[in-house]
Amino acid sequence: MLQLRSLLLTALVAFSSCQQPVKDYYMFDPHSAARPNDAVTTHLEWEAEVRFEKKQIIATAHWVISHKPGVKEIIFDTDGLNIERVWLDDGDSTNWRLGKEQAYIGSALVVKITDNTQMVHIRYTTGEEAKGLQWLEPGQTHDKSAPFLFTQGQAVLTRSWLPCQDSPGIRFSFAARVQVPEGLFAIMSAVNPRQHEDNGIYRFKNDKAIPAYLFALAVGNISFKPYDGRSGVYAEPGMLQKAWWEFAELPAMIRAAEQEFGPYPWDRYDVLVLPPSFPFGGMENPMIMFATPTIIAGDRSLTNLIAHELSHSWSGNLITNATWNDFWINEGFTTYIERRIIELIHGPEYAEMLQALGNQDLEVAIAESSHQPELTALKLALEGKNPDDALSIIPYQKGFAFLKMIEKEVGRSRMDSFIKANYAAHAFSSMTTEDFLAFLRSNLLNDEQFERLQINNWVYAEGLPSNYQRQSSIRFSLANEAVALWEDDKPLLSLPTAGWSTYEWIYFFRKIEPKASASQLEALDEAFEFSNSGNAELLTAWFVLSIKKNHEAAYPQIEKFLQTVGRRKLLVPVYRELMAHKHSGAMGLNWYSKFRVNYHQVSRNTLDVLVGYPIK
Ligand code: BES
Ligand code: ZN
Repeated sequence: MLQLRSLLLTALVAFSSCQQPVKDYYMFDPHSAARPNDAVTTHLEWEAEVRFEKKQIIATAHWVISHKPGVKEIIFDTDGLNIERVWLDDGDSTNWRLGKEQAYIGSALVVKITDNTQMVHIRYTTGEEAKGLQWLEPGQTHDKSAPFLFTQGQAVLTRSWLPCQDSPGIRFSFAARVQVPEGLFAIMSAVNPRQHEDNGIYRFKNDKAIPAYLFALAVGNISFKPYDGRSGVYAEPGMLQKAWWEFAELPAMIRAAEQEFGPYPWDRYDVLVLPPSFPFGGMENPMIMFATPTIIAGDRSLTNLIAHELSHSWSGNLITNATWNDFWINEGFTTYIERRIIELIHGPEYAEMLQALGNQDLEVAIAESSHQPELTALKLALEGKNPDDALSIIPYQKGFAFLKMIEKEVGRSRMDSFIKANYAAHAFSSMTTEDFLAFLRSNLLNDEQFERLQINNWVYAEGLPSNYQRQSSIRFSLANEAVALWEDDKPLLSLPTAGWSTYEWIYFFRKIEPKASASQLEALDEAFEFSNSGNAELLTAWFVLSIKKNHEAAYPQIEKFLQTVGRRKLLVPVYRELMAHKHSGAMGLNWYSKFRVNYHQVSRNTLDVLVGYPIK
């Protein structure tokens, strides 16, 4: 009780310092039941206990709120939570009710408040199938020594483990006290402990307001190794050294980003390497980026993902898309900044390759969207859709192409001043596409440019405008020589591939695809040992090609890959290719039935549909 009192006290102090007048500036968000223009959460004190035996979190959320006079209720988003008790301020119990459950949106928790209400307390437990939690057995982790729990909030999953106003336009600061089993370590999107606590009690604080999708927790056998005073790596002890080596460019990347776009706006920047079932490459949880182990290639070749998630420290976490309809505001900008960092670290010719492959991906994705062309506009209309199904690579690559086109028009230095001015004007707040366009018009482009560059077309029209330009790549032009020699049947080891990165190989695979036969793939595999590569992106591209051509010797490696990788972006193309052919469809379904238990529900949701599971 004493502890709770001191918590409440901190919360009230936080309340007085962060209470703002409630303005009518929150956008309507079709994926949240909250009505923040009436009553909004501003600060959270979270007390939680993580119970592995029951796969459950028992917690109390103490919310500091701000509301207009006369407002009678505050609305939270929940999904599958068991609400035990709700009370106000110093203990007055209050009426509350849960609304009708809706697929992927969950149920609104409506809590009665009075004009004097400053805090709402909600005691609850998480449900067995909480979508934002993945509970792993020791056998599903790298070291196989302890169970593991990690959360995934984006896009609308935080509500399955925290009753909250789960809209990206709504921000809150927080402090937390989390009890985990003795011997395990806990980490949150906050300033994190670097040492084990013997009693299993961990405390966290994040004074910088974040939206709910960035609220994150991981618990497991985790240790830490620093790079310098503000960055380091968390991982299971058995892979800590390897991960630390792989991401060693991190301090230089932070410096590069700062050099271009201004001081790093958060306190620390650490990476947490998760078990393989993590469904994404990376997730930009503030101060602690969550990463898939599939980027540990052994040669630092996939660290653009680190640059990507780091870039979100500015675009996404500092300025956040107001709703998921504005997703390109997060990902298009981040892709632009990621490539600027890569350019500084690896040079322009390396960044060009990423851009050129991104252009190819974009064109393919648009061509494949003919059944839902509305998803090819930058501004999305996702009402009635699960954002998790609708968020494709298009906002990333089209958003990038859009910003690059503007950069070409105005030049780098004006572009950079504009981006910095945007951060200064909108830090720690959210932005709609329309806010951005207004800022663009008043700070960078005149009316003539706005028309000539077809800005409205880029943002609101489907497909690609006539002034879209592909990026050329010097290194890919050189790779064309190898393609020509291969077409001429020259000895494979004489091809000029020395010094090639993953990206030249991916480009090469795409080029030879129309002509390659199974026996030619076999020869290539013998010469270059692709099927044994440690690089998961290269493996994905190689396996897709191998399945297409029925290069049978690759199948054992493909099976191993599907067993150990949980990242949706890599699984989808491999399963899609397996299911597309008579020679591999049954095998694909069989593998999926075996390995599905290892996959996160985010990956399962997509793959169940793709492979037709369960078998009817
Ligand atoms: N924020 C995304 C991941 C995400 C997007 C989660 C939408 C849920 C819904 C993250 O920053 C991301 O884009 N990750 C990519 C990395 C890549 C583009 C370098 C990934 O996971 O592959
Ligand atoms: Zn991203």
